[in-house]
Amino acid sequence: MEYKWCVLMTTVLILLVFVNCVKLPLARAPVPPSRLSPKRPNPKSCPGCNTLRRPNCCVDGVVSDYFRGSQFENMFSNRNSLEAHAKGFWDYHSFISAAAHYQPHGFGITYINQSFFGAKEVAAFLAHVGTKTSCGYRVATKEPLAWSLCHNKELNSNTYNYCDKRYENTYPCASGVAYYGRGPLPIYWNYNYGEVSEELKVDLLNHPEYIEQNATLAFQVAIWRWITPIKENQPSAHEVFIGTWKPTKTDILAKRVPGFGTTMNVLYGDLVCGQGHNESMNNIISHYLYYLDLMGIGQEEAGSHEVLSCDKQAAFIPSSSSPP
Ligand SMILES: *[C@@H]1O[C@H](CO)[C@@H](O)[C@H](O)[C@H]1NC(C)=O
Ligand SMILES: *[C@@H]1O[C@H](CO)[C@@H](O)[C@H](O)[C@H]1NC(C)=O
Ligand SMILES: *[C@@H]1O[C@H](CO)[C@@H](O)[C@H](O)[C@H]1NC(C)=O
Repeated sequence: MEYKWCVLMTTVLILLVFVNCVKLPLARAPVPPSRLSPKRPNPKSCPGCNTLRRPNCCVDGVVSDYFRGSQFENMFSNRNSLEAHAKGFWDYHSFISAAAHYQPHGFGITYINQSFFGAKEVAAFLAHVGTKTSCGYRVATKEPLAWSLCHNKELNSNTYNYCDKRYENTYPCASGVAYYGRGPLPIYWNYNYGEVSEELKVDLLNHPEYIEQNATLAFQVAIWRWITPIKENQPSAHEVFIGTWKPTKTDILAKRVPGFGTTMNVLYGDLVCGQGHNESMNNIISHYLYYLDLMGIGQEEAGSHEVLSCDKQAAFIPSSSSPP
């Protein structure tokens, strides 16, 4: 009895498959998103590109489409070790939630001229994060690049309060708090805390400590710093990386071209750029190349030396003329 049923069911199944055969899609191996040529949305429906007013720009998808928890774990494998200062603080989901907040601005999901810049942008952003939060060179005898997200705040955090009285009217310093560097791409000073408070609608001016208590918020603040043109007449790291920023003649003369190298110029100016082979600059580049590999993009995608490095670039603004 059971045998007959089995034969009958199998026959029915074979018939069904046969009849539907032409319609059955072939199983395809997943293609890494950076190599897909997806159907791109109408640029008019892309708020991230409308803000930039670029006709060749569009945004599509989400960061978690291509950046997986396992990759995050590989990149930050020692973050919960005994030596880590922020043990237990950072996780994949907090990064993905923070990224989701900035996706409408194009973070990690932008196409320019139909090439996808999103995955490389996440590698670039995390390279800055990785360098800033590393305790590699202090604790590691090998694999110094595997010790990032070790911190969530500046190490010598109690030495200075970073209160700029010139902003007393707009962003008054709260008593008893200090605006030292907090987060994975640290922000400093009352005016930066004030601006990001307005943007995220969280009162960080009175409660800067929230950044040390909430990893999603900490990543949001860092992506804000990446995506916002912080200094006057300067592009954001996001714009120079994806290439929606167009260098002026002055920029070209100063060897500032769109790409990873110029993100270092935006974020650190002459502290790392225009100094030849500066150790800090090389360290940031090493993190970027390492993450390109770990994300399956490949370091050959980093581009030429001119694009990758800022060793010959003049700083946008010399550090002596502006606070960090
Ligand atoms: C952490 O910050 C995020 C983003 O600002 C917020 O949505 C969330 O509610 C916060 N979590 C806690 C526990 O406060
Ligand atoms: C996109 O294409 C336009 C027109 O061909 C070109 O001017 C622009 O530089 C390209 N942008 C990037 C980032 O490749
Ligand atoms: C270069 O890198 C080192 C880190 O080794 C840093 O201390 C120094 O200030 C950097 N900048 C310059 C201008 O040399």
